[in-house]
Amino acid sequence: MMQAPSRQSMRLAQINIDGSALTHNLSRVRASAPNSRIMAVIKANAYGHGVITAAQHLEDADAFALVVVAEAVELRRAGVTRPLIVLQGFNTPDELQTCVDHELQPVIHQPWQAEMLACATTKPLDVWIKLDTGMHRLGIQAEDAARVYDQLNAAGTVRTIRFMSHFANADDPENTLNNSQIESFINVTSAYRAERSMANSAAIVALPSSHMDWVRPGIMLYGSSPLLDKSAGELDLKPVMTLTSSLISVQQIQKGEAIGYGSTWRCPETMPVGVVAVGYGDGYPRHAATGTPVLVGDQICPVVGRVSMDSICVDLRGKDRQGVSVQAGDPVQLWGNELHVDEVAQHAGTISYELLCHTGNTAGLV
Ligand SMILES: Cc1ncc(COP(=O)(O)O)c(C=O)c1O
Repeated sequence: MMQAPSRQSMRLAQINIDGSALTHNLSRVRASAPNSRIMAVIKANAYGHGVITAAQHLEDADAFALVVVAEAVELRRAGVTRPLIVLQGFNTPDELQTCVDHELQPVIHQPWQAEMLACATTKPLDVWIKLDTGMHRLGIQAEDAARVYDQLNAAGTVRTIRFMSHFANADDPENTLNNSQIESFINVTSAYRAERSMANSAAIVALPSSHMDWVRPGIMLYGSSPLLDKSAGELDLKPVMTLTSSLISVQQIQKGEAIGYGSTWRCPETMPVGVVAVGYGDGYPRHAATGTPVLVGDQICPVVGRVSMDSICVDLRGKDRQGVSVQAGDPVQLWGNELHVDEVAQHAGTISYELLCHTGNTAGLV
């Protein structure tokens, strides 16, 4: 029987994950929050890096956070024995039973989840109550917190209760909502002898008063800066994911001719234009504007025209001027250890979180 070619043999775009960079970035979290335990956030397939790979290289974390029950079960099946926190908790009695079967720690962010758990007859679970302290996304409101806590505390199905909350603006440390959220969280939770967690990456770096018992780093583990005004390099974070591909065509295009869909960019002179085998089908952002840097060999060459599903065009005049010959097959880096994903994200009008998460289809990812 004929075998279908694997995705890996079909596409030139490849992801490489540097596990040692993950481990290094975890050590930066430890150094920044030395008195807190670390719940490494590896949701969304570890921000596109591969959840199993990430868990292996982050084995020194004290716990892992996922979003849904199925992700946590996948980790248990892979042999991960660390505490696993499910940030959106359970949605059905079946999911609650799965939490029990796999010793998962659900986050209770709605009163109905507390009721479902209190009425269940399962073995006891460790749970987290998520409080809404000002982000107004998920969380129990302050006025309901005591009732939910008492209900869970009295239930035979609950072993330990911990508290968490999430910042809306931690990437902007001067924002007044940050301190107001910390204050509300402390006000509500200080009545209980329970462990607490607030800090995401930005707060780990910039809001030490939020560190408490557990910190919850995500993006800094993957080597991106969580702050608007500090680079990853300044925070000693190392990029983990490198996205590479190759040039598949180099052509001289005449002055005045337009490049790609929509003919949005015209050659200001007769010039060499390269085509790189990567596009939004591989997770490269469609909104990467003309001028987005791409590393061809060892030189930055800007994107010209629109990003297509499987290819982008690049301006090779810089190479030409230097007298460096370029040809199909030359290696290209889209982001990674030599071209920071934060810089590419800026040119695409987005954040590195989105770029990293969208590479899930890319060949080479394990
Ligand atoms: C509840 C919660 N905690 C922590 C994190 C980690 O955030 P960051 O990646 O900014 O460190 C996230 C990510 O969105 C989250 O939703």
